[in-house]
Amino acid sequence: MMTRPLLLGTNLKMTQTARETAAFVGDLVRAVSPEPDTRLFVIPSFTSLPAATERRGDARLWIGAQNMFWAPEGAYTGEISAKMLTALGVDLVLLGHAERRGLFHETDQDLNKKVTAALEAGLRVLLCVGETGEERQYGVGEETVARQLKIALHGLAAEASSMLQIAYEPVWSIGAGGSPATPADVTPIAARVRATLDGVFGEAGAAVSLLYGGSVDPNNAAGFTALPEIDGLFVGRACWTVDGFRATLAAAQSGRTG
Ligand code: PGA
Repeated sequence: MMTRPLLLGTNLKMTQTARETAAFVGDLVRAVSPEPDTRLFVIPSFTSLPAATERRGDARLWIGAQNMFWAPEGAYTGEISAKMLTALGVDLVLLGHAERRGLFHETDQDLNKKVTAALEAGLRVLLCVGETGEERQYGVGEETVARQLKIALHGLAAEASSMLQIAYEPVWSIGAGGSPATPADVTPIAARVRATLDGVFGEAGAAVSLLYGGSVDPNNAAGFTALPEIDGLFVGRACWTVDGFRATLAAAQSGRTG
């Protein structure tokens, strides 16, 4: 099995002004010195992106956007294109977060257009998949993530896999009202994600990193990174402070090394 880097990043969601993000990113790059095989990222709001890319300086920290539109430009009031993001020095775009799917009605077909446009523009993509609590109750979690992946990744060339990261985030585990998944919950779905990536990309699918997200914190992080199918963590609330980020990173690393 190939060794993929350890990835750890946070989605700041709709928190932090540009000034607050500048302070957070500045403090973070001073506070953490990741191992060479570790890759960190921060995904702030659109208005904080210039501050974040400036403050990370030459630190090995990817800065990501929380969404984008698929058209390169045009009459799409309120939307942001991939080119607008790359022009700011943004490395990555988050697509298909459960809050975008649930609150803003993004479909897998929309995501297929967004993923394709982002990769064509040279952005890395972090694509989120995950079943709702109801889908879980009916026992269709694996089918749900397989369907989400097959549609969102439809038509991509095998080379696209090197710019793709997947986050498995069960909807029922996300946010203050969520209950964390256990590693035992994650294992079968992660295996299905890997099998689906093999189906979509063939051998090149092995290049795609798979992260777990949903109520991750320093106490449970190691249990997820210890799983052979999991390459990292996508974290919300627990990583919104530098201390929380540092503690989660330490736990993630300890899980990996056993
Ligand atoms: P949480 O958020 O860690 O606060 O549950 C995770 C996410 O929404 O990606």
